[in-house]
Amino acid sequence: MAIESVMHENRVFNPPKTLSENAYVKNLEEYQQLCDAAEADYEGYWGNLAKNLIEWKKPFTKILNEDDAPFYKWFDDGELNVSYNCIDRHLPNKKDKVAIIFESDDGQTTEVTYQELYEKVCQFANGLKTLNLNLGDRVIIYLPMGIEAVVAMQACARIGLTHSVVFGGFSAKSIQERVIDAGAKLIITADYQNRGGKELPLKTAVDDAILLGGCDSVEKVIVLNRTGKEAALKENEIDWHELCKNQKEECEPVWVNAEHPLFLLYTSGSTGKPKGVQHSSGGYLLHAINTTKWTFDLKDDDIFWCTADVGWITGHTYVAYGPLALGGTQIIFEGVPTFPNAGRFWEIVQKYKATIFYTAPTAIRALIKASESDEAVHPKSFNLSSLRILGTVGEPINPEAWMWYYENVGSSKCPIADTFWQTETGGHVITPLPGSTPLVPGSCTLPFPGIAIDVVDETGQNLEWGQGGLLVIKKPWPSMIRTIWGDPERFKNSYFPNELGGKLYLAGDGAVRDAESGYFTIMGRIDDVLNVSGHRLGTMEIESALVANDLVAEAAVVGRPHDVKGESIIAFVVLKSDRPNPEKATEIVNELRAWVGNEIGPIAKPDEIRFGDNLPKTRSGKIMRRLLRSIAKDEEITADISTLENPAILDQLKQKV
Ligand code: PRX
Repeated sequence: MAIESVMHENRVFNPPKTLSENAYVKNLEEYQQLCDAAEADYEGYWGNLAKNLIEWKKPFTKILNEDDAPFYKWFDDGELNVSYNCIDRHLPNKKDKVAIIFESDDGQTTEVTYQELYEKVCQFANGLKTLNLNLGDRVIIYLPMGIEAVVAMQACARIGLTHSVVFGGFSAKSIQERVIDAGAKLIITADYQNRGGKELPLKTAVDDAILLGGCDSVEKVIVLNRTGKEAALKENEIDWHELCKNQKEECEPVWVNAEHPLFLLYTSGSTGKPKGVQHSSGGYLLHAINTTKWTFDLKDDDIFWCTADVGWITGHTYVAYGPLALGGTQIIFEGVPTFPNAGRFWEIVQKYKATIFYTAPTAIRALIKASESDEAVHPKSFNLSSLRILGTVGEPINPEAWMWYYENVGSSKCPIADTFWQTETGGHVITPLPGSTPLVPGSCTLPFPGIAIDVVDETGQNLEWGQGGLLVIKKPWPSMIRTIWGDPERFKNSYFPNELGGKLYLAGDGAVRDAESGYFTIMGRIDDVLNVSGHRLGTMEIESALVANDLVAEAAVVGRPHDVKGESIIAFVVLKSDRPNPEKATEIVNELRAWVGNEIGPIAKPDEIRFGDNLPKTRSGKIMRRLLRSIAKDEEITADISTLENPAILDQLKQKV
C-alpha cells in the first residue's frame, strides 16, 4: 500500500512504536489479515467476533439472515441482554473499578464504580417495572449529560424497553414529534440542566410538548430533581428518587432476541421530518465493543473521554455502551468546552489524566481560535502528557485543525482517529486504527476491518481509485440501521435506492479514494443535509419550520462554509407581505430566528436571513439552490441563468439585512 502517495502535499504520520507494540491491531499486515479474513468468510468473521466479544444467554446458530433484504437480521436466534454485557459481566473481577467519572458544569466530581452503577441501574429498572410497561415499549429520555442519562439508557436495555434519547437542545415541538412518531409510553426528564454556568429548564419543554397535543400514548413522566427546588408533580408524574426508593439493588436482566430494538434515534434526512433510526441489540452491541477496542485500543488502565452528548449517536456508542461493555473507565462531562473558559477540556484531561480523547472538529476549531488570543487556555498551558490516542468525529476535519490537534494536544505523539460514520451505521465504518494505520491529515484513511465500503457512480458501478463518487457499503454489517421506525418504505428508498441496484447502502456522502493508497477522503453530503457544528440538520426541516410561521410564504435554506462550525445556515425568505424595509427586516429576522428555535431547537436557528419578492426558480418552478449557495457565499454568479424565470430576484437576495 503506497501510503506515501496520499495527497502528495501532505505529510504521513506513522504510529508510535510503543503504541503499536501493545495495540490490539499492531500493524498494517495485521489490519490486512483481518480484512482478508472478512473477505474470505464474511459470516464466519462476524460470527467469531460476536461469539468472543458478547456473552450470550442463548448462543446464535445463524449469523446473517438475508431472506427479507434489505431488512437484514444478524444472530437472530441468539439471546442476550445489553445491560448485562455492559455491567454485570465485569462484577466478578472489577466491581470496585470506576466506571464513570462525572464532572459537573461547576466542576464537582462524582465517581461511580461498576458495582454502584449496577445498583443504580437495577433500582431504576425495578422502578420502571412498576409502571405497566411491556417489552419493546418506547421511552423518551430527555436528560442532561450525566450519570443518570446512562443509568436510564442502561435500565431500559436491562428490561427490554426501547429508548429514544432526545438531545437537551431540542425544543418542545421536537419532543412532541418524536413522542408521537415513536408512540412513547414514558418520558424520563429532569427539572434542569446546567450548561455554561446557566440553569436551563428541561421539564418545562416536556410539559409544553404534551400541551401541544397528540401525546396520548404517554402514560407517565419521570422527573429527576437535580436542583432540590420544590416542584409540584402532576398526577402522572413521578419523582425519580421516589421511584427508586425501596427498590431492590438487583434486577434480573430480561433476555431479548438479538434483533430486539435497543433504541430509536431520530436524525435528519433530506426530506420530511427527522426519521427514527432503529438499531438492534446484538449486532449494534458487537460493533460498539469491537470499534471501541480496535479504534480506541481501550485497555484496562485507560481513562476514556468522549465529549459527545448522549443525545447523539456518538454518545450512545462511545459513552453509554462501548466503553462500559469493555469494562473501561470513562469521563462524562456535563458542561461546554468554553466555560468558565476555553481551557476547560484541557483542564479536565489534566485533572483526570485522560488517556483517550474523542471530540468534534468544530470544538477543536473553536478552541484553536480562543487560544490564539489567550495563552492561558492554550493546550500547552496544561499537562496533557497522559494522552495516548485522540479522535474526531461528525464532520470533515481540515488538515490545519488536524495538525494543531496533533501537535498541541497530542504533543506529536498521539495518533488521531478521524472516524467516519453515521447514526445509521451504529459505529465507525472508516477510521485509522491507532497502532497500525499511517495517518494523513484530512483523510479518515481505511475501512474498519470487515466493512465493505467503496465509492461508486450514480448507477452503482465501481469507480477507479482517484475518482470522486458516492460512498456506499456493499454488504450488510451487524450494527447497521434495521429500519426507519414506522416507515419501512422510506428506509428502502433512502438507503437502498433502485438507481444503485437496490443492494448498496447509500451513505449520502461524496468520497474519493486516493489513486494509489486507497485512502478515503470524505467530500461532504450529497443531499440537502447540513452539518452545523457536527450536528446534522435537514434544509427541508428548517424550511418547513419557517413556512409554518404566519409571516412566511416561502423559504429556501442552504449551507455556507464556516471556519469554525463547518457550515452556517442561510435562509432566503419570501414574506406574505411586501419585502420589509431595513428596520422591519431586522425585527422579522429576530422573530423568525426565535421561531425556528422553538420549532426545532437553538441549533437550527438560521445564521442569516435574507428577503426577496420571490426565490430563483426555473420555468418549471424548481428552486435553483445552486444559485442560492453562490449568493450565500457572495460569489459572483457565473452559472447559466438562462432557464431562470425571474433573474431580477438575484439582486434582491444579494442584499443582507
Ligand atoms: O456527512 C458525514 C458526517 O456526518 C454525517 C453523519 O451524521 P450523524 O448521523 O449525525 O453522525 C455523526 C456522528 C457519527 C455523515 O454522513 N461525518 C461524520 N463523521 C465524519 C463526517 N464527515 C467527514 N469526516 C468524518 N469523520
